Amino acid sequence: MTAQDRPSVMAGSERRAQLSLFARNFFKHPRMLGSIIPSSPYLVRRLLEPVDWERARVIVEYGPGVGTITREILSRLHPEATLVVLETNEEFVDFLQRSIFDPRLQIISGSAETIQAELDRLGLPAADYVVAGIPFSTMPAEVRERILEGSREALLPEGAMLVYQFSPKVLPDLRQVFSAVECGFEPINIPPAKVYFCRP
Ligand SMILES: C[S@@+](CC[C@H](N)C(=O)[O-])C[C@H]1O[C@@H](n2cnc3c(N)ncnc32)[C@H](O)[C@@H]1O
Repeated sequence: MTAQDRPSVMAGSERRAQLSLFARNFFKHPRMLGSIIPSSPYLVRRLLEPVDWERARVIVEYGPGVGTITREILSRLHPEATLVVLETNEEFVDFLQRSIFDPRLQIISGSAETIQAELDRLGLPAADYVVAGIPFSTMPAEVRERILEGSREALLPEGAMLVYQFSPKVLPDLRQVFSAVECGFEPINIPPAKVYFCRP
């Protein structure tokens, strides 16, 4: 692996603040987070591998938490593109608002279920990508179905939904809703994660 291939490491104090906030919220909402620490740089890189950064103008992320994937998306996002993040945990929303300042970022306090309403409200066209690490396996089936259907409808025909999960339970639902689903795996993460690339 060359230095360029190695995932980047952020400043110590900022990283410590993120880890501590994430861990505290894990103890409050273990089923919502699924892990005591945020995604590893290896998982983030694998998840975002299929993204065409030159083409993408609208990316939506569900469940940004402390912004681990959000920061990586922003570091590669086109200057004229928009990243919309939807997060249900108010502490995370507040943290993101206080720690990331980027005019391309729209931080929404709310559920992934509202994707189309939020794109409409912001006057944005269909999304190139939806990036999701929310706990599909522990949410009620009707909420999961609403989010998956809503995501497919909010995507451009040539867009894609990029999903990571700690359990394979959502796979049959992904196959039901999307026309094609490719599966991957990232072992260097706590816990190791499944990665799904879904075409509408
Ligand atoms: C496993 S954590 C992911 C954190 C971050 N993306 C990362 O990679 O480290 C899941 C996040 O999804 C959020 N979440 C759960 N259900 C959600 C929903 N319906 N809509 C938006 N966010 C949700 C949780 O609050 C939590 O921040």
